[in-house]
Amino acid sequence: MTLIDGKGTAAAIRGELKERTVAFEAKSGRKAGLGVVIIGDDSASQVYVRNKTKACEEVGIRSVTKSLPADISQEEAERAVEALCSDPSMDGILVQLPLPRHLDERKLLAKIPVEKDVDGFSEYNLGLLAMNRRGTVACTPLGIMELLRRYRIDVGGKDAVVVGRSNIVGRPMALLFLNDDATVTVCHSHTKDLCSVCRKADILVAAVGKAKFIKADMVKEGAVVIDVGMDRDENGKLCGDVDFDTVKEKASFITPVPGGVGPMTVAMLLSNVVEAAEKTLK
Ligand code: GUN
Repeated sequence: MTLIDGKGTAAAIRGELKERTVAFEAKSGRKAGLGVVIIGDDSASQVYVRNKTKACEEVGIRSVTKSLPADISQEEAERAVEALCSDPSMDGILVQLPLPRHLDERKLLAKIPVEKDVDGFSEYNLGLLAMNRRGTVACTPLGIMELLRRYRIDVGGKDAVVVGRSNIVGRPMALLFLNDDATVTVCHSHTKDLCSVCRKADILVAAVGKAKFIKADMVKEGAVVIDVGMDRDENGKLCGDVDFDTVKEKASFITPVPGGVGPMTVAMLLSNVVEAAEKTLK
């Protein structure tokens, strides 16, 4: 079994991006910029946003965070997003999810212009992906493809199974695999006999949000196992959607939690910001 080192890979990518931000600043006379909107006080979201802004600083991206109260109205939230978007020094805009329940996520995200949609959550960017055309791809699935590429794990012709169908992970992940010629199955809460579907996977991606949900009997000998989960086990310890200790005995490659997919999500966000900034020079 080979442990896929997301933490180390993400650090290498940040090093590569640093060179590009320096070149961008030399050409444009300003730093690449990321505007972050966080609404409410979800503690996990606050940790994620802090990780993102810290990583920005490390690679030379200027980040501006707008923290808005949980009880903000839809109109006020939209105005705050629009104000950040209209700042020409902000190359990318990110609205941290999930939002407080009373807010309309679709309407709020629609305020972000496509060229600043560094999360790739817009209908336009997801539509481009669905049609196998180049656009901005959501950071988590993009980070998984980058890990597979750097570990020379070929996707073409493989049976890829994605557990979870969210707009931000499962769906774009399935489309990326399909675009790279995998045979793709997407599983969800209505899937019959999840176990036997997962057991057919050459590449298994778990994006369910349930601690240690994927057990060893759901994994084929030699499968590549990618864990998107960020869960807590019965002792409150951080773990993934995969029962790592037993599954690692069967997998050929596996990502740990923490130190697997998580740091790659942040690295791909930075990469999408640098791409967006570089496009403003053309
Ligand atoms: N919430 C969970 N993952 C993400 C992400 O990649 N981007 C944003 N904006 N919110 C998230």
